[in-house]
Amino acid sequence: MSFAVNVKQYKTPLNVEMGDTILQTALNSGREYPHGCQSGNCGACKSRLYSGDIQMSPYSEYALTQEEKDSGLILACRAVPWSDCEVAYLEQDEIVAHPLRNLNCVVTDLERMTHDVTRVKLLIKTGGPFDFSAGQYSQITFQGLPPRDYSMANQPGNKLLEFHIREISGGKISAFVNKNLKVGDAVKVKGPYGISYYRNNHTGPILAIAGSTGLAPIKSIIEEALKQNAKRKIYLYIGVRDIPDLYLVEYFKRLIKHHTALSLNIILSESKESNKYRKGYLADAIANDFDNLNQTKVYLAGPPIMVETCINQLRKIGVRDENCHADAFYTEADKALMAEKYE
Ligand code: FES
Repeated sequence: MSFAVNVKQYKTPLNVEMGDTILQTALNSGREYPHGCQSGNCGACKSRLYSGDIQMSPYSEYALTQEEKDSGLILACRAVPWSDCEVAYLEQDEIVAHPLRNLNCVVTDLERMTHDVTRVKLLIKTGGPFDFSAGQYSQITFQGLPPRDYSMANQPGNKLLEFHIREISGGKISAFVNKNLKVGDAVKVKGPYGISYYRNNHTGPILAIAGSTGLAPIKSIIEEALKQNAKRKIYLYIGVRDIPDLYLVEYFKRLIKHHTALSLNIILSESKESNKYRKGYLADAIANDFDNLNQTKVYLAGPPIMVETCINQLRKIGVRDENCHADAFYTEADKALMAEKYE
């Protein structure tokens, strides 16, 4: 048995088999539908339900707030129809549509950035050209291991793709990259994905917030923003536990020398000794530093807890939801914990 789901952006309805989600059916049929995590965590597939019954599988409050749900919004990746339905996905303020590519790459460069972060550079051998928007991510497969999502840290159009991969406790893939990956190894890259990308049309100030390796997409966004308008105010906040977790600080300091509108704030959450940088949490630092961010575009990337607390804070100081573009990095352990919580 299947249900007819009319997606307003499509000319013909989707036939969604009983028990399947709207998003999966759309993607399986080769149609475009905005999406990211496909697991109810990112909010990229937010859609309006105009008519019909759906059942939502568990999802994160960060992806869809209670107010949004009450106003008729759903997550297509979690929505299982129980009748014929009419829906529309929310249009992004600036749509980018890059072709999905399957790239065969080779590792050209490996650099240890901290005790647990490796910068990986890849050269595309076949499958290109690879167009993406700064802030997007790809699905990467190393040596036949299960694929994982990592954000591009390079600017679109660069010859080499750059990724920052942190070794996560118990993480098989991140451990492989940090310990065993070698220059010359073959790597598969599928992408681009994600909607937390740099918006060209916005010309006001930018607040860029990076937790840990969230610095990868934020670096790409900042470089792209500077390329387009070197005079625009950009406030970069980097949050890590302690000094040994910092990387690319000198790089950003050099950038500031040439772009005085760019500023850097480093916040250490667990440092007991260092007096060199501010201590505390990113959300508190932002609450302290800004009264009103009404005209500011905000890009955030990093661990889910950091992203969620910052978004809550940003809403309090006037950041409009449409000006807030967040990429929360869910590890496999985070996903397993969420699945447990929802069972
Ligand atoms: S794709 Fe649906 S919430 Fe991420």
